Amino acid sequence: EEDGYELWLRYRALEGAQRTRVLAHAKVIVAPAGPSLTALAAVAELHRGLSGLVGRPPELAREIRKGAIVLATPASLPAIAKLDLDLASLGQEGYLLRATKVRGHAVTLVAANSDVGLLYGTFALLAAMRTGVDLAKIDVRSAPKVALRMLNHWDNLDRTIERGYAGESIWEWHHLPDVKDARYVDYARANASIGINGTVLNNVNSKAEMMTAPWIAKAAALADVFRPYGIRVYLSVRWSAPMELKQTATADPLDPAVRKWWKDKAAEIYKVIPDFGGFLVKANSEGQPGPQDYKRSHAEGANLLAEAVAPHGGLVFWRAFVYSQFDEEDRAKQAYTEFVPLDGTFAKNVIVQVKNGPIDFQPREPFHPLFGAMPKTPLAMEFQITKEYLGFATHLAYLGPMYEEVLQADTGRPRKGSTVAKVIDGSLDGNKLTAMAGVANIGSSRTWSGSHFDAANWYMFGRLAWDPHASSRDIARDWAALTFSTDRKSTEAIVEMMMRSREAVVDYMNPLGLHHLMDTGHHYGPGPWVSELRRPEWNPTYYHQADRKGIGFDRTPKGSNALEQYAPDVARQWADPKTTSDQFLLWFHHLPWDFRMPSGRSLWDELIARYDRGVAGAGDLRKRWDRLKNVIDPRRHREVREFLLIQEQEAKWWRDASVAYFRSVSGLPLPKGHAAPP
Ligand code: GCU
Repeated sequence: EEDGYELWLRYRALEGAQRTRVLAHAKVIVAPAGPSLTALAAVAELHRGLSGLVGRPPELAREIRKGAIVLATPASLPAIAKLDLDLASLGQEGYLLRATKVRGHAVTLVAANSDVGLLYGTFALLAAMRTGVDLAKIDVRSAPKVALRMLNHWDNLDRTIERGYAGESIWEWHHLPDVKDARYVDYARANASIGINGTVLNNVNSKAEMMTAPWIAKAAALADVFRPYGIRVYLSVRWSAPMELKQTATADPLDPAVRKWWKDKAAEIYKVIPDFGGFLVKANSEGQPGPQDYKRSHAEGANLLAEAVAPHGGLVFWRAFVYSQFDEEDRAKQAYTEFVPLDGTFAKNVIVQVKNGPIDFQPREPFHPLFGAMPKTPLAMEFQITKEYLGFATHLAYLGPMYEEVLQADTGRPRKGSTVAKVIDGSLDGNKLTAMAGVANIGSSRTWSGSHFDAANWYMFGRLAWDPHASSRDIARDWAALTFSTDRKSTEAIVEMMMRSREAVVDYMNPLGLHHLMDTGHHYGPGPWVSELRRPEWNPTYYHQADRKGIGFDRTPKGSNALEQYAPDVARQWADPKTTSDQFLLWFHHLPWDFRMPSGRSLWDELIARYDRGVAGAGDLRKRWDRLKNVIDPRRHREVREFLLIQEQEAKWWRDASVAYFRSVSGLPLPKGHAAPP
């Protein structure tokens, strides 16, 4: 059954020469003696993988022989210390794959400084076998550039998932801790295969109950399953938990009873989850409680929790996604305004987690101005893998180019060339506490992510968290090859679809820097006309500001001056519509409809041309997929095609509704050549 459950870990029979070549190098495995659960997981994966790939499980041996796969750390096999492998540079999680001689026998060596490195190396070796790498010549070394590579589940305790489009939560809370579903192991395998080493189990809009003993026991059961795979468990906490559980009279972070409560709570958690990662907090954001309710700062709030987990080696991820209903300031500016003055005041084990852009996971946003602006504070990147604003699981949108665009953006701080990636990997400020988080798109759907192609976003996230400088195209190529096991030409055709997909979505939803035009609440279809919501910054009309004369949000000094939050060089480039990339034009500028675009068209005509281009782009995806009919198995081909047809229809819906609305505002005629809606 080609149902997508295996994700990119499909171990189907290899054919022809590659089968022969792999077989020659994979009959025997030599693993560390008295192995840990982690090394056993690596051996089990080789067993599973090779059984599928070459049709027979490998033999497990003690003695090194010619042609064996040897898994070794310097501790398990001191002989490798003599091989001049420079293992030290691999750190605690890196690995090396090399065709070499160990004790005189030609083997395939998987070497690392830890068992989790061996596990990562094993997954890489299996992927290499599947993508045609010649094991006789293999020579790969890889180490993560970011220390904490985290999934954030927005899973509620009733198994609904906030912004989840792939079914209900895979955490069967009701059966935990007694029943450990087999799916948890597959979840851990998939994550380990891409280097993810942390998972926050519950929604950032968290419930106080999560901090009670029965729920902590459920989390502990999951932590037990994930531990061998190098994955630590973290929990989101509700700021007011001690008070809501009626164990303190207040949630004021400076209150001694509150401090004691959190210390005791941390100790209680560490008793059952000795390697517990720590807390993730959304405070004073979108109506959530927080330290500001007591006139305390975000730093005072974060430091209280940091103090509670510090004795156990725990961390606090404090989110910078804040905007207040009492603040008149442009929403895009509020996080920077609040957090920059706090730089240097957070405890050592606090990481401030910042969304990629200053509004909210839009199809395109400029990078968040906090990147580069808090050199004394570890900043984590928060990407959204689930596609809240990009067509849920139905529309094909490979997010790799979007993440890459943000990571490669130059913050200009403190100097040119200081990319967001260098902030995130710590190289810019010598920061070791580095992290990247992705809001998961995982649910109980057979495909895990709700569609075959959305698994690519999970995969890509892991790979970019491992190396934020990697190319999203290379990652797409690996994913497509591992998922669809096709020949080179077909893989390239799939990669081409993926690389075009997000730009098509931008065109038919939010062209030219427009943003937040989705219909209210669910955020699925168009809603640029919505203007009556209680909070002004929830209304699409707040963001596009269209009227008879023009369109766009003025963030120059004449407007909200959000530009002042960027480095002078960056701000200068975006201050003038003539030098602003059309990607961000209406993000930063309010312009007359007859503004001349570089294409020679008026802004009005260009806007409509972009919507048309988006519709054409969605149709093009479907046509490209149709050409792959004979190379993809029928079930997955059909399922992908069904969604692409929906996307094509809905691209038109987006265009027609948006164009009709903007026309009603501008009063301008449709340009020639535009296919008018019926
Ligand atoms: C978005 C999303 C919310 C979520 C919030 C957050 O606004 O729509 O569902 O809670 O982001 O990141 O906290």
